[in-house]
Amino acid sequence: MSSESKLTVLVVGAGGNTGFLIATALLDANKYNTYILCRPGSQDKTRIVTLKARGAKVKLGDIINDTVEELEKNLIGVDVVVSAVSTSSMDGEKTLFQAAKNAGVQRVVPSDFGFMVPPGEILLSDMKRKLHSFIEELGVGYTFIEVGWWMDLVLPYPSNTTGILAQRSYTAGGTGKVKVAFTPRIDIGRFVAHIIADPRTLNQTVFCYSDQLTLDEVYDIANRVSGEDLRSKVTMWTKAQLAKQIEDARVAYEQAPSVMTIVGRVVPECYYYMYVRGHNTVEKAKELGALDARALYPDFQPLSTEEYAKLFYKELPDIFYSNV
Ligand SMILES: *[C@@H]1O[C@H](CO)[C@@H](O)[C@H](O)[C@H]1NC(C)=O
Ligand SMILES: *[C@@H]1O[C@H](CO)[C@@H](O)[C@H](O)[C@H]1NC(C)=O
Ligand SMILES: *[C@@H]1O[C@H](CO)[C@@H](O)[C@H](O)[C@H]1NC(C)=O
Repeated sequence: MSSESKLTVLVVGAGGNTGFLIATALLDANKYNTYILCRPGSQDKTRIVTLKARGAKVKLGDIINDTVEELEKNLIGVDVVVSAVSTSSMDGEKTLFQAAKNAGVQRVVPSDFGFMVPPGEILLSDMKRKLHSFIEELGVGYTFIEVGWWMDLVLPYPSNTTGILAQRSYTAGGTGKVKVAFTPRIDIGRFVAHIIADPRTLNQTVFCYSDQLTLDEVYDIANRVSGEDLRSKVTMWTKAQLAKQIEDARVAYEQAPSVMTIVGRVVPECYYYMYVRGHNTVEKAKELGALDARALYPDFQPLSTEEYAKLFYKELPDIFYSNV
């Protein structure tokens, strides 16, 4: 394909965990002109340098500090904008999408990559929903991409690792017997590379998942592949414990709304939604109006939990947990 017939995509937040993997997958797909938006002064960060070496082109800009007009200049000629910025940059996303609309971008993808959930269950999803309404009112084409829960957060870390992510991986909830839709981050980018060029997904929500298993099934795989009894390290919070955590986190947020107290609500609210209610499934997502990415791309084989566990414990452990 000549570069003229390739879609031009700009990834925002490519220095972050998810954004880096999205930009990498777009470059691997070999069918996009891939640009990344990079804050002035961040050009020398390892991930940006890596992406540049692989063929990404850099535009300098900052969605928090730049005006709509400044961002607009960076968006001339861009077909698709994919945002993978963190929760604290949601206001900047509004500026970005306003600029995208002005510059004639065909499709924007906000930084969702989470649950498909009805209003009132998860604060963070409600905040993202407001951004969705903003995008719809702007009248720019969009695709909202959800991926269930990240498999990276579920496999228990090996017992000789420490740090906050390791600790988090030793918590879960419910009985372990309800199905949950999971996607490892490494596959989020591969799904995105399929979705953003597809006319069927324009102005739609798409639900991606690599595997749909119960926690019992996930921990069986983790024990077998790691060769350790990691399951016994996991605390399974009960329905009542999670309800109490949600209430406490809600009070803390109402007393002092901030990124920290918003994030404090994410884990108990998400655990309750998926592990107690059992609603983080592709069936529920379709009921709520999402397209099923697995049905759209039957030839694309995402990693199974078994395959991902092998990477996580055996083949690429350094990438996943050596520095936490
Ligand atoms: C944004 O602007 C503020 C105020 O000028 C400055 O302190 C901050 O460093 C800027 N942020 C970035 C990422 O450039
Ligand atoms: C998608 O939404 C945009 C903005 O509202 C609109 O211009 C476009 O026609 C829509 N396309 C489809 C296929 O729905
Ligand atoms: C944990 O143990 C494994 C297997 O013995 C070893 O390869 C790895 O380096 C250890 N990791 C840490 C963080 O000590």
